[in-house]
Amino acid sequence: MFWLILILLIILVYLVFAVTQFINVTFKNYPPLIRTGREAIREIIRAIPDVNALNRAGAVVYELGCGRAPFLRLMGPAYPKAKLIGVENLAILCLLNRLLFKLQGKRIKILRQDLLTLDLSSADLIYCYLNNTTMTRLSEKFKRECRPGTQIISRRFLLPDWMPVAVKEIKNKKVYFYIVN
Ligand SMILES: C[S@@+](CC[C@H](N)C(=O)[O-])C[C@H]1O[C@@H](n2cnc3c(N)ncnc32)[C@H](O)[C@@H]1O
Repeated sequence: MFWLILILLIILVYLVFAVTQFINVTFKNYPPLIRTGREAIREIIRAIPDVNALNRAGAVVYELGCGRAPFLRLMGPAYPKAKLIGVENLAILCLLNRLLFKLQGKRIKILRQDLLTLDLSSADLIYCYLNNTTMTRLSEKFKRECRPGTQIISRRFLLPDWMPVAVKEIKNKKVYFYIVN
């Protein structure tokens, strides 16, 4: 009986996840959950233009649309003074992240929020792997809210009307590096 209930619960959670994804992607044009591989993230971290900004106490790093927060998980150990914040709108992923990070002792904070409504004025570095529509929506928001010096990294999707400080081909995808001025 226990196993039957557990299996039904897992199926239910999966169905809720799949339906929410479908609605978000089809009707809101939000990006689906596709992860950045570990090797790609390691290369992206090595290519961060201004690492000094991340070594100061209280530096704030966001992964917008964090999924399982692979960027924050891999960069955390190298920048022990930075605050690591993942933003995700899928409740089930937020719960899973919070549970696993607590068990693993990781200092990543997870916000369950629409990234388009988040105040980004405290950000020192923002990592995105989203889609064209969301980057277009974020373009004006970044200009309005981010401080000069904030670094923005976007995998695959560029920020319209912005001039990157660097563009690198990493694991067959372009990665755009920007610094707010
Ligand atoms: C392409 S995945 C990237 C996941 C992770 N950052 C990575 O690089 O592996 C995009 C993620 O953004 C989330 N997402 C999409 N639109 C969002 C929104 N408006 N607010 C918060 N999260 C969003 C999706 O649920 C998904 O988990």
